Amino acid sequence: MTNIQLPDIGVTMALVANLQASLPDFGRIVDRFGHPAPALRKLGLMHWENGRFDTAARTFEAALSLTPEDPDLWRDLASVYSASDRDEQALTAIRTSLDLDRNSAPSWQALASIADRLDAAETAEEAYRCTIALDPQASAAHLGLGLLLFRKKHYEEALAAVRISVELDPVNGLAHFALGHLAFIVCDFAACARAFDTAARLTLELDQPSRQKRARAITFQAMIEGRVQEALQNYGAIAGEDREDLDIIARDAFSVLSASGHLEAAAEIGRMRLAEKPDDPVRRYLLDAVLGRSVTGAPTDYIETYFDLFAPQFDSKLTETLQYNAPRQMVKLVAGHRTGFSHMLDLGCGTGLAAAELQPLGENLIGVDLSSGMLAEAAKRGPYTELVKAEARAYLEAAQSRFDLIFAADSLIYFGDLKPLMRAAADALVPGGIFALSIELAAGDGFTLQPSGRFAHSLDHLKVAAAYFAILETQESTIRLEAGKPVPGLYIVMQRQ
Ligand SMILES: C[S@@+](CC[C@H](N)C(=O)[O-])C[C@H]1O[C@@H](n2cnc3c(N)ncnc32)[C@H](O)[C@@H]1O
Repeated sequence: MTNIQLPDIGVTMALVANLQASLPDFGRIVDRFGHPAPALRKLGLMHWENGRFDTAARTFEAALSLTPEDPDLWRDLASVYSASDRDEQALTAIRTSLDLDRNSAPSWQALASIADRLDAAETAEEAYRCTIALDPQASAAHLGLGLLLFRKKHYEEALAAVRISVELDPVNGLAHFALGHLAFIVCDFAACARAFDTAARLTLELDQPSRQKRARAITFQAMIEGRVQEALQNYGAIAGEDREDLDIIARDAFSVLSASGHLEAAAEIGRMRLAEKPDDPVRRYLLDAVLGRSVTGAPTDYIETYFDLFAPQFDSKLTETLQYNAPRQMVKLVAGHRTGFSHMLDLGCGTGLAAAELQPLGENLIGVDLSSGMLAEAAKRGPYTELVKAEARAYLEAAQSRFDLIFAADSLIYFGDLKPLMRAAADALVPGGIFALSIELAAGDGFTLQPSGRFAHSLDHLKVAAAYFAILETQESTIRLEAGKPVPGLYIVMQRQ
């Protein structure tokens, strides 16, 4: 133990003698237990309850100098250290407590809270799980674990943990508050509104973002129940002073309801929005997608309009909210096969999230994209030799044997049948060149347009389309989150034969 110095026994006994002389209650407890340590502990707890953390810590240290093998005393000491921001000492004390007794749920809970406060997420998660294993009724541990998983964006697991904590402790307003936010993310709108109402009743006055979420949840739930027009009409009264622009509510309702599989309601909103702006390519294509109309690929006017609008928020939305990490994962896979490329192409480069990752793999890096908004963001990033505004297949068809690496992260999802694109990619590569790409995975043997407007492809379709390539490696992965749930995908590294 490096950072906790317990007093000498002699010093403690002098303190005990003083306390016995000045505090009759203290003397009585010593007499009852026949030992001063329990009396010191009681005194320490009293100081702690009254917020005198340093005095409490000194009293627990004195008690420990007499009974250094008492795990509960070490836990008390850890808790007062933590309360007075002595974090390293708190960790040492709680670890000492656990070394003495591995089966104490309160000590694991204390370790979890201290580690959580220190942002030591792994330690905290393990400690919450140990607490729960020892005491399944420990509502605070379920809530702590739920909040930690919430921060890690493991939403479904977080929701399950918070739900248990609410069952065990139905009057904890914070648990209902967390439940409200999580239920919204996974599109359980009825549960979201209920949880926020309970949180508000129990403890918390909801902040504005939560009140806005609650109003959206009530509105979206009414839409799911088939009352789209009525829901939009009532929205203003529900949201009151917190109301947002009704057009934004309708737009977000469309995307949230289509992502969560409420396609009838989404289609009704989509029709209504298209009627307002019949020439809007985004509204038209996404309605087609929700209605499951047969489309061979995303139209170029949709791609341009959609990504031009999306470009400024793309990076934060994808990497933070949706946990998108494909460029880094795919570059790692490519580098496992080959580096030292001469001419690399980032196809559908977007804002250039892959650029910094690709740069060490070769000399020249060209980025191609249809959206000038995305290209403008990519230009700010820097490391491209050239950025070109072009349609991907057309660009490939004009680039005979030009590249030794083509990299397409999250861009083939806008193509239906992959055969023509694969043919063009094969022609644009030198023999032996590498094509790295990602797809969203579909069951069956073909490809399908999803309500999101993105295509999912089966492995069979990919293999047939990739006739000119040898597949070097595939890796299943979550591509992004959608409605709080992981979207299954596949990274593929292939070689031009
Ligand atoms: C989801 S973003 C991915 C961007 C980037 N590859 C990344 O991983 O961050 C898809 C990009 O593909 C572009 N895109 C889609 N279809 C395209 C096409 N037919 N031709 C060129 N670019 C296209 C879009 O404009 C958009 O920038």
